[in-house]
Amino acid sequence: MDGNEGDYLRQRAVAVRQAVYGRDVFIRGLIEFTNFCRNNCYYCGIRRDNRHAARYRLTEEEILGCCREGYRLGFRTFVLQGGEDEYFTDEKMCRIIRSIRSNHPDCAITLSIGEKEAASYKRYFDAGADRYLLRHETANEAHYRRLHPEEMSLRRRKECLYALKEIGYQVGAGFMTGSPGQTVDTLYEDLQFLRELEPHMVGIGPFIPQRDTPFGGEPGGTAAMTVTLLSIIRLLLPRVLLPATTALGTIDAIGREKGLMAGANVVMPNLSPKEVRKKYALYDAKICTGEEAAECIECLKKRVRSAGYTVVCDRGDYR
Ligand code: 5AD
Ligand code: FES
Repeated sequence: MDGNEGDYLRQRAVAVRQAVYGRDVFIRGLIEFTNFCRNNCYYCGIRRDNRHAARYRLTEEEILGCCREGYRLGFRTFVLQGGEDEYFTDEKMCRIIRSIRSNHPDCAITLSIGEKEAASYKRYFDAGADRYLLRHETANEAHYRRLHPEEMSLRRRKECLYALKEIGYQVGAGFMTGSPGQTVDTLYEDLQFLRELEPHMVGIGPFIPQRDTPFGGEPGGTAAMTVTLLSIIRLLLPRVLLPATTALGTIDAIGREKGLMAGANVVMPNLSPKEVRKKYALYDAKICTGEEAAECIECLKKRVRSAGYTVVCDRGDYR
């Protein structure tokens, strides 16, 4: 793609985003509450076989504390993200969800805890969860095999996404750009799948190698490619909630600003306690691991403003 095509794509994406959401950028407080995971995805730094990962779990009290602090800072969406950690049984998850719901009735609760039975998804929903993030990672069978061990399957991943939608969640899918084995053809299938699923949210960020994983020596994705895909997805799904991700901010000092200027409209600052942030290391050199939540939100507000947008403090639901 030459410079002019890129500019044109971006302009179109920004116009579509402007028509639906104006200049608003929504913030989501991310709480990385466990890095224990039973899965072994080849790209991921918290995969089961990574002996170098320093494992941690937040207590219910700590999680609620993050929400309290987040609420004070203006967050009205909390994202509970973690590995697939069997310690957090459905009972425990439901108790946490109910507590957040009763402490903060005006907030949205987003879960990002992987593949579960539909019955479990239903229990979390009934306990008060509103949204669920589960990236499909790739919609191409062979590519899915390249990224995941035998015991995982694309079919199951897709079933989970459809089950979540059926239950009534606002659902997020997505994938990494530049993951090993990704081609124009696999990306085409990703877009076809997104068009079919019609998710409310799409998480897109560059693949960044993590040194203790089987893909530690593979090349990473680029900011340019990520930004191009953000624009394409904005045009494909005009009302989608589209984050400018931390991974994009990690490979490019102004990556998130570039994402916003290409059609993204969400940022997800970290609300996890400072002591554990470095340990939620899906990839190397992750940004914002040394900041307090308050510093991070101030920094992001400045960045959002510098891109010509404004942070709004409401739930930021799908329109
Ligand atoms: N680089 C970038 N993103 C990653 N993720 C996992 N590992 C990496 C990595 N090495 C993404 C996956 C997952 C999300 C939580 O983080 O897409 O769904
Ligand atoms: Fe976290 Fe800038 S966004 S410090």
